[in-house]
Amino acid sequence: MGDDRTFEGKTLLVTGANRGLGAALVEAAFARGAAKIYCGARDVAGFGSALDAFGGRAIPLSLDVTNDAHVAAAAALADIDIVVSNAGVTYMVPLLETTMEGARATMETNFFGPLRLVHAFGPSLDARGGGFISILSLAALVPAHGAELYSASKAAGVMLGHAVRGALPNVAVSLAYPGLMDTDMMRSSDFAKTSPQEIAANILDGWAAGDTAVFPDLHSQYLRDEFVGRPEEVLVDPYALMRDALLRYLEARA
Ligand SMILES: NC(=O)c1ccc[n+]([C@@H]2O[C@H](COP(=O)([O-])OP(=O)(O)OC[C@H]3O[C@@H](n4cnc5c(N)ncnc54)[C@H](OP(=O)(O)O)[C@@H]3O)[C@@H](O)[C@H]2O)c1
Repeated sequence: MGDDRTFEGKTLLVTGANRGLGAALVEAAFARGAAKIYCGARDVAGFGSALDAFGGRAIPLSLDVTNDAHVAAAAALADIDIVVSNAGVTYMVPLLETTMEGARATMETNFFGPLRLVHAFGPSLDARGGGFISILSLAALVPAHGAELYSASKAAGVMLGHAVRGALPNVAVSLAYPGLMDTDMMRSSDFAKTSPQEIAANILDGWAAGDTAVFPDLHSQYLRDEFVGRPEEVLVDPYALMRDALLRYLEARA
């Protein structure tokens, strides 16, 4: 694939494709010409008839990213050009109420899951000049209040993404930093949220445009602007950046 950053005729793997952003990414990739998509899910029965519309080009794949055997079986498919690491869990528990068990479970899916994908797919992606799109969160850059360990797991993903770029020079890597998104994950939040369809489209277009960091919605773009404008506060008072970006976003959406 080399510098070819199109989806036309490509085969993708999307993890956590059965709902939320993953399902929207599948639809958006087909809309951009993808030939075939392996749609990873912990429970493929959950797709029901949702993939029928894609006429056999969407292939359900039993894939729990915390399961070594599942990931190895997926990598054995060998024809995948672009891996989209989307599966994730939140952990909305204030820091001092978190448990080691909860922390480990969060890291297991949000960090070790993508790391498993990198181990399993990295060499073949590098050999074919493929792509790696990692769905992180703006919470990877600044701490999400009351979900700091979720932030930590996503922040670890930032470093993994940078490491992939260094270790696999032929792989086109984009790290995506969505803001509040209207999926099950944020169902309990009353804040204005962006649709997963809009975010999916902007992430894929960002990858195609060669963006190494993709800020796919207004919320994340405000955070990026705060971040770029006040870099010293990333170290001193990152909560201020998060708060100001959220305020600007909420004002714009009011
Ligand atoms: N929602 C937001 O505001 C927001 C903002 C920024 C970033 N994100 C990120 O966007 C990504 C997608 O989240 P979403 O909002 O679409 O959340 P969601 O609606 O809760 O969907 C999460 C998806 O990940 C899957 N998943 C969870 N653990 C898994 C595992 N061990 N192996 C394989 N699949 C697993 C879920 O499968 P099951 O159906 O089996 O549970 C589901 O398909 C996540 O990485 C999330 O952190 C979300």
